[in-house]
Amino acid sequence: METKHKVIFDTDPGVDDAMALYFALAHPDIELLGITTTFGNVTVEQATINALYLTRVAGRETPVAQGVSAPLSKAPGQPPGFIHGDDGLGNLPERIAVPGRAEDCSAAEYIVKMARAFPGEISLVAVAPMGNLALALKLEPNLPKLLKRVVIMGGTVSEPGNVSPVAEANIWNDPEAGDMVFTAGWDLTMVGLDVTHRVVLPYDFFVRLAQHQQHRATDTLQHAVHFYSDFYSGIRPEIGYGCFGHDVLAFVWLVAPELFKTQSGRVRVAVEGIANGQTMMDKLDSIFYPQPGWGEEVPHTRVCIEVDTTACLQLIASTLNSDWLKPVISK
Ligand code: BDR
Ligand code: CA
Repeated sequence: METKHKVIFDTDPGVDDAMALYFALAHPDIELLGITTTFGNVTVEQATINALYLTRVAGRETPVAQGVSAPLSKAPGQPPGFIHGDDGLGNLPERIAVPGRAEDCSAAEYIVKMARAFPGEISLVAVAPMGNLALALKLEPNLPKLLKRVVIMGGTVSEPGNVSPVAEANIWNDPEAGDMVFTAGWDLTMVGLDVTHRVVLPYDFFVRLAQHQQHRATDTLQHAVHFYSDFYSGIRPEIGYGCFGHDVLAFVWLVAPELFKTQSGRVRVAVEGIANGQTMMDKLDSIFYPQPGWGEEVPHTRVCIEVDTTACLQLIASTLNSDWLKPVISK
C-alpha cells in the first residue's frame, strides 16, 4: 500500500525552513512534490533562490513556484536579517552555482494545479506567512476539499508570542491571510509556539550531523544554524547554544502525530490593533458568545498543545542522519 505523504511545502527559507525542507527530503514517508515560496524571513525572490539552492545542493530537482511578495493588506516590513541572516541562510560565505529556475506559474496557481491533479491526496505544509494559501483559496474555492490536509507552523494559544506578547511571526506577517486559513474549512492542524518552544535543537547536533554526512547540504545547514543560534541564545540564554526548530515540527506532526497532544476548537486571528496577529482559540465550545465571528459556522482547527520533546528530537536526529543525501547538482 502507498503510504507516502504527497506534500507541497510553502516556505520562506529561512534557517528553520531549511531544517524542515531537509527533514522532508530525508523522511521515507514523505514525497515532496513541490515547493512554493513567499516573503517572510527574506524577500520572496531570496526565498526562491534559497529553495532552489537547498534542493539542488541536496541533489534534488524539486519544482519551486514563487509566490507573494507582501501581505494582503498590512504594510510590508523589513525581513529579519538579524535572525536568519540577510541571505536567509546565516550569510553563507560562498554558494556554488546550481541550475534551475522557478516555475512559470505563481505559487497559488501551482497549489491549485497540483490539488486538481491529485484530488484528496496532497498535504499542504505551510511554515511562512499565509498569503499563497489565501490566494489559492480565492482561485479555487473548492480547495479545502481538493487537499487532504493543511498543516501550518504558525500562531500560539498559551505560549507568549515572538513578535508581540500575543503574536507569532508567520501569522503576524499577514494576519488577514492567517484568518482566511483558519476559517477556510480544510482539515487544519496548527503547530504553533505552544509546541515549537518546547523543542530546542542544540548547535552541536548540527555539527555532528555535518561530520556524519560529509555533504555540502549539511555543511550549509550547520553554517546557517550557527547564525540562528547566536540570535536565539542571545535572547533566550536558558536554552544553551542552540535554537528552536519551529518549522520542522510541522513535518514531525505529519509523520508522527502521536508525539503531540492536540485540542480542537475555533481559531481566529486579530487583524488590527495592538493585538494584530494574535491567534485566539475558543476552548469552550459549550458557550454562546454574543461577539460576532465565533459562530458555529467557524470550522475547528486541531491545535497542538503538547509535544513529546525527547521523542521528537530523536525522530529529527534519526531522519537527518539517515542515508538520504544525493550528489550535489551543480552547473
Ligand atoms: C516562524 O517564523 C519564522 O521566522 C520561522 O521560519 C518560523 O516559520 C516562527 O515564528
Ligand atoms: Ca518559516
